[in-house]
Amino acid sequence: MEMQPEKMRAYYRFHAGIYDATRWSFLFGRKTLLYNLPVRTDIPQSLLEAGCGTGHNLRLLARRYPALHLTGVDVSADMLHKAAETTAPFAERVQLINGAYEKDAARKAPDHILFSYALTMFNPGWEQAIQTAWNDLPSGGHIGVVDFHDTPSRAFQWWMGQNHVALEGHLLPFLQSTFRTLRLDICPAWLGLWRYFMFVGVKT
Ligand SMILES: C[S@@+](CC[C@H](N)C(=O)[O-])C[C@H]1O[C@@H](n2cnc3c(N)ncnc32)[C@H](O)[C@@H]1O
Repeated sequence: MEMQPEKMRAYYRFHAGIYDATRWSFLFGRKTLLYNLPVRTDIPQSLLEAGCGTGHNLRLLARRYPALHLTGVDVSADMLHKAAETTAPFAERVQLINGAYEKDAARKAPDHILFSYALTMFNPGWEQAIQTAWNDLPSGGHIGVVDFHDTPSRAFQWWMGQNHVALEGHLLPFLQSTFRTLRLDICPAWLGLWRYFMFVGVKT
């Protein structure tokens, strides 16, 4: 059976080239979440994005928070290649790591961890990834998640499954039982064809 990282590498080998031109039309809430993360601007802080893709969020974060040190982890070398181009103006503050997001004893604890439209593609592995984030964060550290939530349409759910996205409302209960909720918004998209959510939690 093909493993999740291999599936992702194969899928994004083609999609990396059209990702930024197409995803703005359905990956809603990314900027809102980024701009509402409790990042401190009076001291240097660090943020790790698991599944950073083409670096869309890393670039926005680097612009918005000039003292923030950023790490992007992604299993797809094709996506990371784009991320290197996207974040080139901020290269001294951005580190990109090619690999699956999993336990890494050598990794320095970031102050914030972000998952943006990544966890619904961690199939299997989303519980472990959330648990890894909990282990990586210091006490008082934050997790930010924006992702698909659920859909009333079986056809749409099937179609998203064909694109490796699980749309089953499964992430929120686990996030909320692992982290203390600071902010949660659940929003309709495309006249209710699906809902997405923005979650900010703290490790207590
Ligand atoms: C839909 S894209 C989201 C990219 C970016 N976060 C954004 O908001 O535009 C999902 C990304 O997660 C990455 N990914 C999937 N499974 C992963 C894993 N186990 N570890 C690290 N990255 C993974 C994929 O390669 C892909 O780049």
